[in-house]
Amino acid sequence: LATIYHIDKPDDLQAAVEALRAGGLVAFPTETVYGLGALSTDEEAVRAVFRAKGRPAANPLILHIADPADLDRCAASLPPLAQKLVGRFWPGPLTLVVPKADWVPDVVSGGRATVGVRLPDDDIARRLIRAVGTPLVGPSANKSGRPSPTSVRHVLDDLEADIAGVVDGGTTPLGLESTLLDITATPPRVLRLGAVSTDQLEAVIGPVEVAPQAAPAGKLAHYQTRAKVWRLSGQDRAARALTWLQAAPRPAGLMLADETIAGLGPIPADVFVWNMGSLGRPEMAAHRLFEGLRRLDAAGCAAILTESWPRQGLGQALMNHLDLISQPLEEDAP
Ligand code: TXA
Ligand code: MG
Repeated sequence: LATIYHIDKPDDLQAAVEALRAGGLVAFPTETVYGLGALSTDEEAVRAVFRAKGRPAANPLILHIADPADLDRCAASLPPLAQKLVGRFWPGPLTLVVPKADWVPDVVSGGRATVGVRLPDDDIARRLIRAVGTPLVGPSANKSGRPSPTSVRHVLDDLEADIAGVVDGGTTPLGLESTLLDITATPPRVLRLGAVSTDQLEAVIGPVEVAPQAAPAGKLAHYQTRAKVWRLSGQDRAARALTWLQAAPRPAGLMLADETIAGLGPIPADVFVWNMGSLGRPEMAAHRLFEGLRRLDAAGCAAILTESWPRQGLGQALMNHLDLISQPLEEDAP
């Protein structure tokens, strides 16, 4: 059974470090989502990460470091704008794709000449990485195709049988993955939209290009809820949600904003509601998204209705996720 480590207890920190050094997998919190940690230098442990997730070997892992200076160790070379990005965004939810240093095993990078590096803004993660003394690989600690985990419970639901343990850090504050920026390209290319917006990046380094396939999980299928997910936008949302509900198979799930829920009136017993917070607070909706998908799925929902947030700030990455997992209601009725 997986151990739950509380690393403010010295014995627990030591036990987690020893598990990693022995080639075990230890999940850890970050400010975005939980990562599935293993020693990046231990090829057997890295292979175990791919196996545990059910992830294709060609889909690369990112390195998690504890101090900005460790970026130099992970990169064969660094373009000048790396320092600007590190100065402004690290620690934080920005992963930099850089030319891979020779010591980084090919299994980590899926055979590529580049590697993603990230310095999490999470004290627990950094203490763990520092104590181990080696960068940890850290894909999201979910089975491939499931929502990224934002709590210990989610990690255990997906991976309990495959891991030595998980370091408890409570609920992850951001709830969406890091932004992935390839700084080997000119202009730099956003490979995944995440918690740092393209506006924030451009304010520091000028124009960036957003790769057409930029998506929370690249080109791979992901976040499969059993239910089909529909998405409302535009006006009169509560009224249109009620119309949708009349025809929706049961149980039905609603993943809606405060403002819309307020207009629904009494909710039937066979309808599950997950409140995403206000339309004015995309950061709240981002924080609640993956938990809501997992809960409505576990409740057996046969159809789910969500809605659109303004595509600004964190709303950009939030909507990028919602675009992938849901269908606009306007174009197709349930
Ligand atoms: O917020 C995050 O980034 C979380 C936390 C745990 O740090 N980690 C995470 O890792 O989301 P993962 O493996 O679930 O997603 C990393 C994404 C994958 O889609 C992978 O294909 C892409 O980054 N990626 C990693 N290295 C890459 C590289 N060298 N070139 C292009 N894409 C890369
Ligand atoms: Mg992932």
